[in-house]
Amino acid sequence: MWRTLFRVVKSVILVGFMGAGKTTAGRLLAERLGWEFCDLDDRICAREGRTVPEIFRDSGEAYFRRVESECLKQVLASLPRSGLVLALGGGAFVQPDNAVAISAVGVPVVFLDATSDELYKRCQPQRGTRPLLVDANQFRQLYESRRAGYMTAGVRVDTTALTPAEVAEQIALRLDLGSYS
Ligand code: S3P
Repeated sequence: MWRTLFRVVKSVILVGFMGAGKTTAGRLLAERLGWEFCDLDDRICAREGRTVPEIFRDSGEAYFRRVESECLKQVLASLPRSGLVLALGGGAFVQPDNAVAISAVGVPVVFLDATSDELYKRCQPQRGTRPLLVDANQFRQLYESRRAGYMTAGVRVDTTALTPAEVAEQIALRLDLGSYS
Protein backbone atom coordinates (compact mmCIF):
# COMPACT_ATOMS: atom_id res chain seq x y z
CA MET A 1 0.00 0.00 0.00
CA TRP A 2 2.76 2.43 0.93
CA ARG A 3 4.36 1.83 -2.44
CA THR A 4 1.28 3.16 -4.13
CA LEU A 5 1.31 6.27 -1.95
CA PHE A 6 5.02 7.06 -2.00
CA ARG A 7 7.36 6.84 -4.92
CA VAL A 8 10.59 5.12 -3.91
CA VAL A 9 13.38 7.48 -4.95
CA LYS A 10 16.79 5.91 -5.36
CA SER A 11 19.01 8.86 -6.09
CA VAL A 12 21.96 10.79 -4.70
CA ILE A 13 23.00 14.38 -5.31
CA LEU A 14 26.69 15.28 -5.05
CA VAL A 15 27.63 18.84 -4.15
CA GLY A 16 30.85 20.62 -3.30
CA PHE A 17 33.43 23.03 -4.61
CA MET A 18 35.33 22.85 -7.90
CA GLY A 19 37.79 19.96 -7.85
CA ALA A 20 35.87 17.97 -5.23
CA GLY A 21 35.52 15.01 -7.61
CA LYS A 22 31.75 15.15 -7.96
CA THR A 23 31.82 14.01 -11.58
CA THR A 24 34.60 11.42 -11.32
CA ALA A 25 33.44 9.79 -8.09
CA GLY A 26 29.80 10.16 -9.16
CA ARG A 27 30.38 8.24 -12.38
CA LEU A 28 32.13 5.45 -10.49
CA LEU A 29 29.34 5.27 -7.93
CA ALA A 30 26.67 5.13 -10.64
CA GLU A 31 28.57 2.37 -12.47
CA ARG A 32 28.92 0.29 -9.35
CA LEU A 33 25.26 0.68 -8.41
CA GLY A 34 23.95 0.22 -11.94
CA TRP A 35 22.31 3.66 -11.68
CA GLU A 36 22.20 6.44 -14.24
CA PHE A 37 24.65 9.32 -13.98
CA CYS A 38 23.98 12.97 -14.80
CA ASP A 39 26.41 15.86 -14.67
CA LEU A 40 24.38 19.07 -14.46
CA ASP A 41 27.03 21.11 -16.30
CA ASP A 42 26.90 18.65 -19.23
CA ARG A 43 23.15 19.07 -19.38
CA ILE A 44 23.49 22.86 -19.39
CA CYS A 45 26.08 22.72 -22.18
CA ALA A 46 23.92 20.35 -24.25
CA ARG A 47 20.92 22.64 -23.89
CA GLU A 48 22.92 25.75 -24.77
CA GLY A 49 25.14 24.17 -27.43
CA ARG A 50 28.07 25.98 -25.76
CA THR A 51 30.76 25.26 -23.20
CA VAL A 52 30.60 26.68 -19.65
CA PRO A 53 33.35 29.27 -20.40
CA GLU A 54 31.46 30.35 -23.54
CA ILE A 55 28.22 30.80 -21.59
CA PHE A 56 29.99 32.89 -18.92
CA ARG A 57 31.85 34.94 -21.52
CA ASP A 58 28.95 35.63 -23.88
CA SER A 59 25.93 35.67 -21.55
CA GLY A 60 27.34 36.22 -18.05
CA GLU A 61 27.16 34.33 -14.76
CA ALA A 62 23.58 35.42 -13.95
CA TYR A 63 22.37 33.81 -17.18
CA PHE A 64 24.35 30.65 -16.43
CA ARG A 65 22.71 30.45 -12.98
CA ARG A 66 19.24 30.78 -14.49
CA VAL A 67 19.87 27.95 -16.95
CA GLU A 68 21.53 25.87 -14.22
CA SER A 69 18.45 26.25 -12.03
CA GLU A 70 16.06 25.35 -14.85
CA CYS A 71 18.08 22.28 -15.80
CA LEU A 72 18.27 21.18 -12.15
CA LYS A 73 14.51 21.45 -11.75
CA GLN A 74 13.97 19.45 -14.94
CA VAL A 75 16.19 16.66 -13.66
CA LEU A 76 14.49 16.68 -10.25
CA ALA A 77 11.08 16.48 -11.90
CA SER A 78 11.97 13.28 -13.76
CA LEU A 79 14.15 11.20 -11.46
CA PRO A 80 14.41 7.69 -12.91
CA ARG A 81 13.07 4.82 -10.81
CA SER A 82 16.22 2.91 -11.68
CA GLY A 83 18.35 5.33 -9.63
CA LEU A 84 20.35 8.44 -10.46
CA VAL A 85 23.63 9.93 -9.29
CA LEU A 86 23.45 13.66 -10.02
CA ALA A 87 26.63 15.75 -9.85
CA LEU A 88 26.04 19.50 -9.48
CA GLY A 89 28.41 22.27 -10.50
CA GLY A 90 30.14 23.98 -7.57
CA GLY A 91 27.75 26.94 -7.40
CA ALA A 92 24.42 25.18 -7.83
CA PHE A 93 23.64 23.99 -4.29
CA VAL A 94 24.53 27.34 -2.69
CA GLN A 95 21.75 29.10 -4.63
CA PRO A 96 18.96 29.05 -1.98
CA ASP A 97 16.21 28.40 -4.52
CA ASN A 98 18.03 25.29 -5.78
CA ALA A 99 18.60 23.98 -2.25
CA VAL A 100 14.87 24.36 -1.54
CA ALA A 101 13.96 22.48 -4.74
CA ILE A 102 16.36 19.68 -3.79
CA SER A 103 15.07 19.39 -0.26
CA ALA A 104 11.49 19.19 -1.60
CA VAL A 105 12.25 15.95 -3.48
CA GLY A 106 13.89 14.34 -0.44
CA VAL A 107 16.96 13.00 -2.26
CA PRO A 108 20.04 12.60 -0.04
CA VAL A 109 22.70 15.25 -0.63
CA VAL A 110 26.38 14.47 -0.13
CA PHE A 111 28.96 17.25 0.28
CA LEU A 112 32.32 16.19 -1.13
CA ASP A 113 34.83 18.30 0.76
CA ALA A 114 38.60 18.80 0.73
CA THR A 115 41.02 21.51 1.78
CA SER A 116 41.12 24.58 -0.43
CA ASP A 117 44.78 23.85 -1.30
CA GLU A 118 43.95 20.32 -2.41
CA LEU A 119 40.95 21.48 -4.46
CA TYR A 120 43.04 24.18 -6.12
CA LYS A 121 45.77 21.67 -6.98
CA ARG A 122 43.25 19.27 -8.51
CA CYS A 123 41.81 22.03 -10.73
CA GLN A 124 45.13 23.03 -12.28
CA PRO A 125 45.16 20.55 -15.20
CA GLN A 126 41.80 21.89 -16.51
CA ARG A 127 42.23 25.58 -15.64
CA GLY A 128 40.60 26.97 -18.80
CA THR A 129 37.36 25.09 -18.24
CA ARG A 130 36.42 26.95 -15.03
CA PRO A 131 35.60 30.66 -15.40
CA LEU A 132 35.44 31.18 -11.62
CA LEU A 133 38.95 29.83 -11.08
CA VAL A 134 41.18 32.91 -11.08
CA ASP A 135 43.98 32.50 -8.53
CA ALA A 136 44.60 30.69 -5.26
CA ASN A 137 43.43 33.56 -3.01
CA GLN A 138 40.20 34.22 -4.88
CA PHE A 139 39.61 30.43 -5.02
CA ARG A 140 40.01 30.10 -1.23
CA GLN A 141 37.74 33.08 -0.54
CA LEU A 142 34.99 31.73 -2.78
CA TYR A 143 35.31 28.28 -1.18
CA GLU A 144 35.06 29.78 2.31
CA SER A 145 32.07 31.92 1.40
CA ARG A 146 30.22 28.81 0.17
CA ARG A 147 31.23 26.31 2.79
CA ALA A 148 28.33 27.01 5.18
CA GLY A 149 25.94 26.33 2.30
CA TYR A 150 27.60 23.02 1.44
CA MET A 151 27.51 22.04 5.11
CA THR A 152 23.71 21.96 5.03
CA ALA A 153 24.01 18.70 3.05
CA GLY A 154 23.03 15.65 5.10
CA VAL A 155 26.36 13.88 4.63
CA ARG A 156 29.93 15.22 4.31
CA VAL A 157 32.78 13.13 2.94
CA ASP A 158 36.31 14.51 3.31
CA THR A 159 37.95 13.53 0.03
CA THR A 160 41.33 15.18 0.69
CA ALA A 161 43.25 11.92 1.03
CA LEU A 162 40.93 9.63 -0.94
CA THR A 163 40.98 8.33 -4.52
CA PRO A 164 37.76 8.75 -6.54
CA ALA A 165 37.03 5.02 -6.06
CA GLU A 166 37.41 5.41 -2.29
CA VAL A 167 35.13 8.45 -2.36
CA ALA A 168 32.47 6.45 -4.23
CA GLU A 169 32.78 3.68 -1.67
CA GLN A 170 32.47 6.13 1.23
CA ILE A 171 29.30 7.59 -0.23
CA ALA A 172 27.80 4.12 -0.61
CA LEU A 173 28.76 3.21 2.96
CA ARG A 174 27.45 6.42 4.47
CA LEU A 175 24.13 6.15 2.64
CA ASP A 176 23.90 2.41 3.22
CA LEU A 177 23.52 1.65 -0.47
CA GLY A 178 23.48 -2.07 0.14
CA SER A 179 23.98 -3.29 -3.41
CA TYR A 180 27.43 -1.68 -3.57
CA SER A 181 30.16 -4.32 -3.70
C1 S3P B 1 31.13 26.58 -10.90
C2 S3P B 1 31.63 25.31 -10.96
C3 S3P B 1 31.71 24.55 -12.21
C4 S3P B 1 30.69 25.08 -13.23
C5 S3P B 1 30.85 26.56 -13.39
C6 S3P B 1 30.60 27.32 -12.08
C7 S3P B 1 31.07 27.28 -9.59
O1 S3P B 1 31.45 23.17 -11.97
O2 S3P B 1 29.39 24.78 -12.85
O3 S3P B 1 32.15 26.82 -13.86
O4 S3P B 1 30.33 28.26 -9.46
O5 S3P B 1 31.76 26.81 -8.66
P1 S3P B 1 32.51 22.18 -11.21
O6 S3P B 1 32.25 22.34 -9.74
O7 S3P B 1 32.15 20.83 -11.71
O8 S3P B 1 33.87 22.63 -11.60
